[in-house]
Amino acid sequence: MKAAVIEQQGGVENIVYRDWEDPEPGPDDVVVRVKACGLNHLDIFVRRGMPGFPVPMPFISGGDIAGEICALGNNVPGWSVGDRVTLNPDTHEGMIGEQLIGGLAEKVRVPAQNLVALPDSLSYEQGAAIPINYGTAHRMLFHRGRLAAGETILVLGASGGVGIACVQFAQMVGATVIAAAGSAEKCEKLSALGADHTINYADEDFSAATWKLSEKKGVDVVVNFTGGDTWAPCLRTAKPGGRILTCGATAGHSPETDLRYIWVRELDVLGSNSYSQEDVAKSVAYAAEGKIAPVISDVLPLEKTGEAEMLMEDRNFFGKIVVCP
Ligand SMILES: NC(=O)c1ccc[n+]([C@@H]2O[C@H](COP(=O)([O-])OP(=O)(O)OC[C@H]3O[C@@H](n4cnc5c(N)ncnc54)[C@H](OP(=O)(O)O)[C@@H]3O)[C@@H](O)[C@H]2O)c1
Repeated sequence: MKAAVIEQQGGVENIVYRDWEDPEPGPDDVVVRVKACGLNHLDIFVRRGMPGFPVPMPFISGGDIAGEICALGNNVPGWSVGDRVTLNPDTHEGMIGEQLIGGLAEKVRVPAQNLVALPDSLSYEQGAAIPINYGTAHRMLFHRGRLAAGETILVLGASGGVGIACVQFAQMVGATVIAAAGSAEKCEKLSALGADHTINYADEDFSAATWKLSEKKGVDVVVNFTGGDTWAPCLRTAKPGGRILTCGATAGHSPETDLRYIWVRELDVLGSNSYSQEDVAKSVAYAAEGKIAPVISDVLPLEKTGEAEMLMEDRNFFGKIVVCP
């Protein structure tokens, strides 16, 4: 099969479109013929290297996969060749695309217990835009953050994969959404998606703007997976008793903080990691019901995976970048 192979860690020039051995299913596995694979910031971290998370090279990343089953192990009841599927990449053997060979390829081996049926009403591109982004947002907002109707939530990085998923889930439960992103164009698109307020943090201080929008009361919930120099200012946007949710640190994992806000306002800082099979399956069901709608930014062929990752690195996208073999 053909695959977008990371030959060694570093820049996009290390991604080579080339032959790779076809995967074989173990007894409890299926092989999925990949129709679409959505990019995540994780693909960039896997290629560039993450301190403490060694990835064996050469490697194929890509965890957000949709396709059809093309081979079955001998212990896989309930599934057939030709079934349309997406999947939960967080398997008992490790994360597909991080520890296990991923889906930026024509085929991928997947433990059958991680499959989620892809309803006919959803395209493969949409299917590849759901598991990681919406699964992560579902766990973070609801299991960890207990977001409820009537609350106000600030989402930083709202234009990206996890960000849009947070915006849509927050709307779905009746929260008031302040969506913050890095350009006026992205803010316009977030307004069109139904965000109640937007903040372009390239032009204005998001912390002051949120304080003003909340009539100097602060917001109930802040989503911050950016870290870096957004961390201390985001603490100032929360109301007393507010929750700060984090699942990542795109701009730096060791930021300056301001402890005064944490104790004076009795803030809860809540980490959230990964997602369960249920988070992914529920997200797919909500998409099929039209309660959330994955936003596809760009669709590129598999041989242009490097170009696709550059769009993400340059922050030149809105929603999900999808690669199709
Ligand atoms: N723990 C978990 O299980 C888990 C799961 C999924 C994702 N994550 C983490 O969550 C974060 C977001 O993931 P994602 O796939 O949604 O990423 P993404 O699509 O690249 O979105 C990140 C957004 O953050 C904004 N941003 C702000 N500062 C940035 C910077 N210095 N570099 C790049 N983007 C910046 C960008 O929007 P603007 O240009 O509008 O500012 C961008 O669209 C990542 O750190 C990822 O590793 C964690």
